[in-house]
Amino acid sequence: MAQPKPLVVVTRKLPDVIETRLMELFETRLNRDDRPMSQAEIAESVKTADVLVPTVTDQIDKAILTNAGPRLKLIASFGTGVDHIDLATARQRGISVTNTPGVLTEDTADMTMAHMLAVPRRLTEGERVIRSGKWEGWGPTMMLGHRIWGKRLGIIGMGRIGQAVAKRAMGFGLSIHYHNRRRVHKDIEAELEVLNARRLDLMKATSYIVNTSRGEVIDENALARKLGSGQISGAGLDVFEHEPAVNPKLMELDNVVLLPHMGSATLEGRVDMGEKVIINIKTFVDGHTPPDRVLETMF
Ligand code: 8YV
Repeated sequence: MAQPKPLVVVTRKLPDVIETRLMELFETRLNRDDRPMSQAEIAESVKTADVLVPTVTDQIDKAILTNAGPRLKLIASFGTGVDHIDLATARQRGISVTNTPGVLTEDTADMTMAHMLAVPRRLTEGERVIRSGKWEGWGPTMMLGHRIWGKRLGIIGMGRIGQAVAKRAMGFGLSIHYHNRRRVHKDIEAELEVLNARRLDLMKATSYIVNTSRGEVIDENALARKLGSGQISGAGLDVFEHEPAVNPKLMELDNVVLLPHMGSATLEGRVDMGEKVIINIKTFVDGHTPPDRVLETMF
């Protein structure tokens, strides 16, 4: 007799081609209207699910994992970052976790470059001037930004995406400097990764900051203060501390480009991510080690 198909619960709407394939392979519960699930809804769904496919918008915390049913054996996350999953509890409960690394590297690096160009060259400010109908014509001192060529770029986190940004930045005449957490002790690492007020104080007034990683790595209130007082020239932010809320102090500033977590938002990227999710689930349910298994020690 054929084995029953594993029940896969997907928390958000994925590209059609991915949903179709998931339904062919597994007993799949989709979220067609894409309304983010509440913690109670996720908790309910993992009572019977074999596999949960969450995204960055779901908190797969201790309570969810501890109260999950005995069938839940895999969290196949749709995304690279796994900061929304309590990896230690997952490991204790014998629940494997996978992610989708690699396939969103180039898209995220492109978006990082887009911010790096947009902020010093005042792209979104210029666009707002046109749309407001207030543009009175060209002038020699109108909307001056700053040259990118010949400047220094500091990359914090020289992983796949950092390296892809470095390659692009070289073409724009930037000299590359980097910090990579892998070289330092965990405790120091935690401190260095966070751009708190003290660390922001060390930045030059002519510098710009771009964040396409996670909002939590920057103290937004401190950043807003320094941007407002001219201690930092500008910022490009794709991610925020309390998404989808955006710090109102940042909204008031002209020298900030604000985008809604779009770093990897290409159709190609989302399909590639979905395919990785499918491969991870299929190899796992077939009894093999999934290619993108996340180990607690990796993060
Ligand atoms: C994804 C991301 O869109 O993959 C990541 O870590 O931050 C995003 O680019 C998101 O995580 C999907 O869950």
